[in-house]
Amino acid sequence: MSEKIRPVRKAVLPVAGLGTRLLPATKAMPKEMLTIVDRPLIQMAIEEARQAGIEEFIFVMSAGKDVLLRHFECPDALMEMLEKRNKIEHMQKVQESSVPDGAIKTASQDIALGLGHAIWCAKDLVGDEPFAIILPDDTVRHPQSCLAQMMDAYNQSGGNVVATCIVDPQDVSKYGILDLFSRDGNMVGIKGLVEKPKAENAPSDMAIFGRYILQPEIFAYLDRHETGAGGEIQLTDAMVHLIHDQPFYGFVFEGERLDCGHEVGFVKAQIAYALDKDSISQEIADYMMEKLREYHAETMATQSPKSRQEAA
Ligand code: UTP
Repeated sequence: MSEKIRPVRKAVLPVAGLGTRLLPATKAMPKEMLTIVDRPLIQMAIEEARQAGIEEFIFVMSAGKDVLLRHFECPDALMEMLEKRNKIEHMQKVQESSVPDGAIKTASQDIALGLGHAIWCAKDLVGDEPFAIILPDDTVRHPQSCLAQMMDAYNQSGGNVVATCIVDPQDVSKYGILDLFSRDGNMVGIKGLVEKPKAENAPSDMAIFGRYILQPEIFAYLDRHETGAGGEIQLTDAMVHLIHDQPFYGFVFEGERLDCGHEVGFVKAQIAYALDKDSISQEIADYMMEKLREYHAETMATQSPKSRQEAA
């Protein structure tokens, strides 16, 4: 790493959102505690950050989310019980999913005013150093975690790095979209960003995905509390200002992105991660084949002869 590039030691995990798209599941249970196969989303995010060498985690919390902190404890009573029953494997799972005391710090966001506001709430805990942001409901399936890939790139480039991927043109209005001027391998030079543009106004089809490495100067712009798309304080709007002051890159990560914050993405993630897990993959694959056969038979039975011919 060049002397000028400051290391990233902290990650901010905003978990104060309402999770409305997954209601009623998120009425009492934080979205970030929803489980993909056997791990809650928040645990997947912490594992990803650890793979990238992060040592300190800052949770931006709201009321009713304490369970997210409890998940990372290693309760004595549970460990004793498992030991008595000689459940060594289970003890390992509890230990591996725990985080040492003091490694998680918390900031509060009392009202969900938007992602930019959530990050601003972590300002004092971040201090004057570069930091990562992970949105726990966005996941990437790849042996090397997305943030670890970005960290390798950042250690060469410095500046600000946001994860990016190509989206279907009809979906650009759901994302922050990059306005780019160059591409060198996985790194894309950015000259602008537009939050949720209409398809006809989108500067590209490259969307920001929920991983960022930002310099602390972003807080000067978040301090302004400007509201943007949807009446929320958007992180994208602060980044648009920072692009004029500092180098800013999009990083095209490797792996499958799965947005677990809505129904379809959440179900796709269950399937993909279940098929990744050797101990259950065969049983799940057999079950899916059986269900797909049933589904196709039912669909064919209800289709008109004409659409059956077209499908064939
Ligand atoms: P989302 O954009 O998915 O919003 O936030 P949300 O409120 O969680 O979900 P929907 O749109 O109502 O279904 C991405 C991440 O940012 C956090 C969320 O908790 C989630 O981890 N967030 C969002 C905050 O912490 N505060 C906010 O004001 C908004």
